[in-house]
Amino acid sequence: MSVVKIGLLGFGTVGGGTLTVLQRNMEEISRRAGREMKVVAIAVNDLEKKRDTNTHGITLTDRMMDIVNDPDIQVIVELIGGEDVFDAVMQALENGKHVVTANKALIANQGNTIFGKALEKGLMVGFESAVAGGIPIIKLIREGLSANQIEWFVGIINGTCNYILSQMTDKQREFKDVLKEAQELGYAESDPSFDVGGVDAAHKLTILASIAFGVPLRFEAVYIQGIEHIQKTDIEYADELGFRMKHLGISRRTDDGLELRVHPAMIPKQNLIANVSGVMNAVLIQADAVGQSMFYGPGAGSEPTASAVVADLIDVVRAFTTDPQNRVPHLAFQADSLIDLPILDISQIETSYYLRMQAVNRPGVLAAISSIFGENEISIDSILQKGHGHPDELVTVILMTQNTRERNLMKAVARVEALNSIEGKIIWIRVERLS
Ligand code: NDP
Ligand code: HSE
Repeated sequence: MSVVKIGLLGFGTVGGGTLTVLQRNMEEISRRAGREMKVVAIAVNDLEKKRDTNTHGITLTDRMMDIVNDPDIQVIVELIGGEDVFDAVMQALENGKHVVTANKALIANQGNTIFGKALEKGLMVGFESAVAGGIPIIKLIREGLSANQIEWFVGIINGTCNYILSQMTDKQREFKDVLKEAQELGYAESDPSFDVGGVDAAHKLTILASIAFGVPLRFEAVYIQGIEHIQKTDIEYADELGFRMKHLGISRRTDDGLELRVHPAMIPKQNLIANVSGVMNAVLIQADAVGQSMFYGPGAGSEPTASAVVADLIDVVRAFTTDPQNRVPHLAFQADSLIDLPILDISQIETSYYLRMQAVNRPGVLAAISSIFGENEISIDSILQKGHGHPDELVTVILMTQNTRERNLMKAVARVEALNSIEGKIIWIRVERLS
């Protein structure tokens, strides 16, 4: 059978890893796919840049559309990133080429259109590497859990954030230094504010929620909070209280709609997912038949991500001769069976909270705080004052709530902040008990 010809768009961290894995493992890959495949052309930005991977016999160009429009190329692997490649991907599909991409920004924002075009043309779009790097989480949810009703999932889905928080927790390092290191290791996006600001995790959450619940991709509806404002003090208090600080993507089906949220949270130390450190990712899923299961692995990096890219390539090649109607649907559910569930506003979610405030050490202050919480229907789990302080000096007060609506918490926070005995703003962080 003839060799399947592949065009790579992008030859950076993931593109380089993809070519290396294909070259090193081609014999086994071909035995799995049933066909040999070969990268025949690569598009880059800078033709002068020195490359570590052997490109002998491969055409390098800085004109990606030459590859997209080459009639000999059957599969386009897009590893440039960002939404600017939308036209190239649509053109590739228009030209009858299957597409594999690691680009979560593209899929989260433009996936509905891209999958529509692919369906019309009977083509495949593989995006396994777009979520959780090397963990085959798309296949796991889309195929392995397809018997289940998924109730909720919680994921550590940004390697850079997890790397930074782990180093801040375990090595007491500063945010800035660790971010620089994550960039050097090739984990961070070309604009690292996408990582630390939570946007990258929101892209991935959008994709996971879509395949878990059978809803269209709704990136614009995700509540997003990053880790830039997390202070070492709160990481230390979390530890003292039996929690670890993590950046999480959470989606939950409720009677009122779907939660879609990305933010830092404290989670119980004894939960397996609390011990996922460094660049590792994990997704904890609660589903009705299987119960709770957790999937763990490297969330970023050259070859771990290439592992997922190449797995998609193998799937595409295997499916060359199958009837497009009988392939696994892109978003797990048949395209005409997606349901546009309402997405809950963050004020409607229910969870627990950690609060840290500076209060004047005076009789009645804790009682005033407790009474405001009570009036807002918030049960306090524990309240503790750090240090003894002299009368009328400032002391730190830490408060943990039981599950409550975020709307109620916001009202209580505003009222407590207005008390004369409270100095400055209250730091509040969500606590996910994962039960
Ligand atoms: P890099 O920045 O390392 O590589 C980007 C590549 O695209 C470079 O080779 C660059 O060329 C090339 N490029 C940029 N603009 C153009 C253009 N206009 N025409 C042709 N080539 C161009 O990115 P990554 O490899 O890290 O990321 C690629 C994709 O994979 C992104 O979508 C990212 O989100 C995703 N991803 C990344 C992971 C990771 O761990 N890094 C993990 C999972 C997904 P040149 O080399 O000449 O500069
Ligand atoms: N920047 C991403 C991360 C790469 O840190 O998780 C993997 O998607």
